[in-house]
Amino acid sequence: MVLPHFAKGEVVKGFSRGSKDLGCPTANLPEEVVNNLPKNFETGVYYGFASVDSGEVYKMVMSVGWNPFYKNEKKSMEVHILHEFEQDFYGKELRVVVLGYLRPEKNFNSLDDLIKAIRDDINQARLKLDLPEFISYKTHKFFLDK
Ligand SMILES: Cc1cc2nc3c(=O)[nH]c(=O)nc-3n(C[C@H](O)[C@H](O)[C@H](O)COP(=O)(O)O)c2cc1C
Repeated sequence: MVLPHFAKGEVVKGFSRGSKDLGCPTANLPEEVVNNLPKNFETGVYYGFASVDSGEVYKMVMSVGWNPFYKNEKKSMEVHILHEFEQDFYGKELRVVVLGYLRPEKNFNSLDDLIKAIRDDINQARLKLDLPEFISYKTHKFFLDK
């Protein structure tokens, strides 16, 4: 069983395309955290919960992989939290519990199609994370340790 998967790390700088091009800010987890994923953890889009510096726990979507649209050379774990933050959180501690898989990573013909796909991922994640089987993770002890 790969899921649920718990991970935490300091937020590092990605390529900063997230907010500019996509209107969807993402926080990148450091390389060690990416390298610690189980061997059979597929690349693709996932949903779960996340917190920043032991703060409130929010829903999140996460992209794991190579971002074919941008032809990245390094595998990344990028988390988009479904909450509007005042500031970005580079250097802060990000905790995530990954609960479900949505789809494989895809290449798109246009930025617009990528944006639409991400919007759809977010809508699906919102609905799924309200299910009783998942909601209990919001208060999991993993998020309580300071
Ligand atoms: C929910 C979600 C789904 C994504 N799906 C894809 C995808 O299917 N293909 C792709 O190339 N990139 C995908 N991305 C990654 C975006 O391309 C990425 O967030 C963008 O490159 C910003 O990266 P940066 O913060 O490192 O600049 C997805 C990102 C999120 C948050």
